[in-house]
Amino acid sequence: MAKVFVTQHIGEAGVQTLREAGHDVIYRNETEPMTPAELQTAVRSAEGLVCLLTDRVDTAVLDVAPNLKMIANVAVGYDNIDVPAATERGILVSNTPDVLTETTADHAFALLLALARRIPEADAFMRAGKYEKFEMFPPLLGLDVYGKTLGIVGMGRIGAAVARRGALGFGMKVLYTANSEKTAVAQSLGAQKVSLPELLRQSDFVSINVPLTPETRHLFTLDTLRQMKPTACLINTARGPVVKEDDLLTALREGIIWGAALDVFEAEPQMTPGLADYHERLVVAPHLGSATGETREKMVETAVTNLIAGLAGNTPPNALNAEQLS
Ligand code: GLV
Repeated sequence: MAKVFVTQHIGEAGVQTLREAGHDVIYRNETEPMTPAELQTAVRSAEGLVCLLTDRVDTAVLDVAPNLKMIANVAVGYDNIDVPAATERGILVSNTPDVLTETTADHAFALLLALARRIPEADAFMRAGKYEKFEMFPPLLGLDVYGKTLGIVGMGRIGAAVARRGALGFGMKVLYTANSEKTAVAQSLGAQKVSLPELLRQSDFVSINVPLTPETRHLFTLDTLRQMKPTACLINTARGPVVKEDDLLTALREGIIWGAALDVFEAEPQMTPGLADYHERLVVAPHLGSATGETREKMVETAVTNLIAGLAGNTPPNALNAEQLS
């Protein structure tokens, strides 16, 4: 039996599974993240930690948790956890890949289509009673998606799922950047690996699917955005800080790019001042990439399965640092 701390609301099912596995669970059933000080106090005696992407698990937390053996993040991204510091302290870390891949790709495509066909603007237009006449060239003219070029920045699991939707569903030509050649996707979709400048130069829709790392932080600045076509759209369902939001706002205002769809923000849950008041060709959503009931339940189940395995001395299926620890 281990002492497990669950930082935020994850639903009863996951907590029950942990208890049925014999663990002594302290469940903070709240939807607000804790302050750093609160988290530091809460982890003091924990051996297992279940946390969300809004919990920053840094050295200040790790240093006051001498009994901690494992951290199970209920997210695929894990930039909220200092994994090297956890590894140094012999603490396992896991994430929840795979179960959310298709759901997140659906969302990226939903945002892409909503932006290209200006659905939120159209919705607001209708509700404001502005639809007075059919026009051949209405104020809300959109962009074609079918047959266009889709640039995937980061051809990992989610990037590949977005690429499949584009190539197979919308006849799109797919370009991608990645650290290695993705032969399977390249062969099945005819996708082509290119440099980032080449991808930006050619793509009509640029989908960001990289994790947040020191290398990808502010990958999209005014300089990057200027390399895109003025008719191109940027879709970010990865992490907010990959895009410098101030620069994006400038690019939208000045017509440097056609539009943007954002599911994630630089200082979530805040948006850069100005962005919230900007409605033209800008679609925003509150970090809903994996937010379907089915998928969120699977994410919790995955995190809990990982934690139970790790606390039992087994290698968790989605361990991020098992090899370094063994
Ligand atoms: C969501 O953003 C996740 O990383 O799972």
